[in-house]
Amino acid sequence: LRVLSIASEAAPLIKTGGLADVAGALPAALAPHGVEMTTILPGYPKVMAALGKAKAVHTWPSLLGEPARLIKGKLGAHPLLVVDAPAFFARDGGPYADGGGRDWGDNWRRFAAFARAAAEVAAGAVKGLAFDLAHAHDWQAAMTPAYLRYDGVSLPSVMTIHNMAFQGHYGADIFGGLALPREAFAFDGVEYHGGVGFLKAGLEAASAITTVSPTYAREIREAQFGMGLEGLIRSRGARVHGIVNGIDTAEWNPETDPALAQRFSVRTLPRRIANKRALEAEFALDSHDGPLFVVITRLTWQKGMDVLLEVVDHLVGLGGRLAVLGSGDAALEGALHAAAARHPGKVSVRIGYDEALSHRMQAGGDAILVPSRFEPCGLTQLYGLAYGCVPVVSRTGGLADTVVDANLAALAAGAATGVQFNAVHYSALADAIDRTISLYSQTDVWRGLQRAGMKSDFSWSRSGNAYADLYAALVEDR
Ligand code: ADP
Ligand code: GLC
Repeated sequence: LRVLSIASEAAPLIKTGGLADVAGALPAALAPHGVEMTTILPGYPKVMAALGKAKAVHTWPSLLGEPARLIKGKLGAHPLLVVDAPAFFARDGGPYADGGGRDWGDNWRRFAAFARAAAEVAAGAVKGLAFDLAHAHDWQAAMTPAYLRYDGVSLPSVMTIHNMAFQGHYGADIFGGLALPREAFAFDGVEYHGGVGFLKAGLEAASAITTVSPTYAREIREAQFGMGLEGLIRSRGARVHGIVNGIDTAEWNPETDPALAQRFSVRTLPRRIANKRALEAEFALDSHDGPLFVVITRLTWQKGMDVLLEVVDHLVGLGGRLAVLGSGDAALEGALHAAAARHPGKVSVRIGYDEALSHRMQAGGDAILVPSRFEPCGLTQLYGLAYGCVPVVSRTGGLADTVVDANLAALAAGAATGVQFNAVHYSALADAIDRTISLYSQTDVWRGLQRAGMKSDFSWSRSGNAYADLYAALVEDR
């Protein structure tokens, strides 16, 4: 089965968040199940640089008005296609925003063009490239199923929601620039609240919808999480599936990780302490055996960072220390710096994006805090499980599905892997920190949590199988 995976980012070439980890890992996750996955990416400068001098396999004199070429490359060991359209993608800054964090004003055109190109490639417009199914990720790729539909192509498609909060919602005035037939501007087409909705259009047009955990698949049927699309999700009924993300166990393995001061495994857990000492030094934190909490995240409301700020004093009062790595909202960055200034040696903050440091934090921290208000899947709690950094998470989305709370029954059964709490507000998070510190003080219990986490299956094998089964069913239905 040949699948074209359409994504706006994929590790290791270009990453702003978990979508890149997942898009980067899928080809290897699917290969053992007989799926040959080709990934298609926009030709951002970083991606073009990694391609080197590759030759074009297709050209578009006008892709939504701009010249473009299709270039072949590799994403790790797997096939890659890149849409090289300099007018859209050859700019400094991030994939979605300029260096100052302002979204590019023509994002609708950039990603409509990308999706248009992907739809043509998926449908077989390029000699030598043929596909059985198109798999689009998030709003940036969501117009692909819509273009396939209005082109009258019957290729099956999957639309994966990694985050319902980002929908690509624009004014009606852009419709004319999308090169779609008039009838597409309809209630069951790309029209959304009088404007154009990219994710909405993809959800309408795709043969099946997936999201990245079973709990999030249920949550988005309700207004609190559906963000306006709950009715559409409900109307697609059994065509909506929750398939939990795995992690790339080659990248995230404490036995082989080159970023660590000291490698370790579930059998050599005591060696982990060297990583804790190194992390304390790196973050200029007091060095002692008390619990060290870490946070690795985008600094946004989704991630509950405002509530984390409220509990900092409580956490420090109980003898905890906190190391934060993140970037995002300027007000949250400022407030974190202020908290660190209030608690020298106890709270320390790194603003920025640092992949290697994120590995060292998972290896050296005792617990990772993930107080998200919603979390389609979440990956940092999975990395925490793999590295013996016990996750303390809100009970939502993929966090609910991947962490086993240390309640009495789970502890007795040896199944507990972390701490869950119900609502993202001060008292619930403060209670969770109390519970975590009390578990930490019982050394054997804590070791049990770490071991159970490290032994749990967060690999892609089960979910790779689930995607392969879904693809096969859709291709058969065709
Ligand atoms: P989301 O995609 O919503 O941001 P995930 O938990 O799914 O959340 O994925 C986040 C990914 O980005 C993880 O791989 C995490 O380690 C990484 N990450 C987030 N912030 C940083 C940062 N400041 N530095 C390094 N890695 C980060
Ligand atoms: C999104 C979600 C996150 C998920 C990631 C990968 O960014 O916010 O929960 O893990 O996509 O699917």
